[in-house]
Amino acid sequence: QKDGYRFFMEKEIYEQSRVMSETMMGRVLDKGIEFEELSNDFFNGINAIKICACGTSYHSALAAAYLFERIAKIRCDVEIASEFRYKEPLLTQDTLFITISQSGETADTLEALKMAKGAGLKSLSICNVDNSSIVRESDAAILTRAGIEKGVASTKAFATQTMVLWMLALYVGQQKNSVPTELLAREINAMLHTPKALIVTDTLHTKLHRLSKRYLHGHGFFFIGRDIFYPLALEGALKLKEISYLHAEGYPAGEMKHGPIALADSELFTIALMPKSMHYEKIKSNVEELSARDATICAISSVPFDLADDFIKTQYDSHPMLEFFEMMVVTQLLALEISVRLGNDVDMPRNLAKSVTVE
Ligand code: M6R
Repeated sequence: QKDGYRFFMEKEIYEQSRVMSETMMGRVLDKGIEFEELSNDFFNGINAIKICACGTSYHSALAAAYLFERIAKIRCDVEIASEFRYKEPLLTQDTLFITISQSGETADTLEALKMAKGAGLKSLSICNVDNSSIVRESDAAILTRAGIEKGVASTKAFATQTMVLWMLALYVGQQKNSVPTELLAREINAMLHTPKALIVTDTLHTKLHRLSKRYLHGHGFFFIGRDIFYPLALEGALKLKEISYLHAEGYPAGEMKHGPIALADSELFTIALMPKSMHYEKIKSNVEELSARDATICAISSVPFDLADDFIKTQYDSHPMLEFFEMMVVTQLLALEISVRLGNDVDMPRNLAKSVTVE
């Protein structure tokens, strides 16, 4: 049931605040993070993390790599499952192999997991479906508690995956005693504020509905961001292309000048993720360069930006992850509104299936 929403995807975007609280329940405590799914010695002997996933789950993995290295001080690299399988990777047994999957049935991710297990690696899955193939195949699993996701375009699964990975980064840091008390308190405090940052207000939704009409035509979109906002840019672009069939790319903002800026003109739509709490001045100068070449700029930020053609003001800027989740909602709703205007089937986009069980 859509419960009065036009589409399952819309309903799922609105559910994100609640499912985020559920995902944290019993896990985010004042004193730190607890996972009853993991034994106390689970991370013993682990010195590195490798994550494999596909699509949106791959994007949450990319964001996690920044968090694992920054918070837990553990080496983390990420690979697309279908690439990992055939590259004859060199694996060492001090590496924890993490798979991320909403469905738990994605063929490439499952096969990557089997390969890593064959090489003797310990495995952990982050999954939305209990008892799925990937969960059953893993040494341990953390469930994302997003509830059933029906929209083919993943929204709440991405949000809860990213939350679990952020919690896990802090957990690993605790286990390895690499998280200073002040940092622990700051992260926990930000986590507890996350559900607020995910609430969809009428003002925001109406604004995105109005401005979406500007973005139906043109050469395409660049979503740009830096640091963890780069994976979010990739995810924003994927959402838009999946349901609107418009060409969209996610790019690290600092890379634009190394080629893609050649595309800039007024029909190049740039969705700029400009968090106040992370490298603001750097991204600002990247966006200024695009604006100087006449690109149409839609800036998402809590800081007013004079050169923006459209400006979407965010509210929660005390921590990068709060800005991350609030901007995530903006990009999801923008994709939804553009798709609706184009008359597309938001929940069942052409050529796509919810679960990809073939290679
Ligand atoms: O179930 P999984 O998370 O393993 O699925 C991976 C991808 O197929 C999936 O994220 C896909 O990219 C979605 N359509 C994204 O919206």
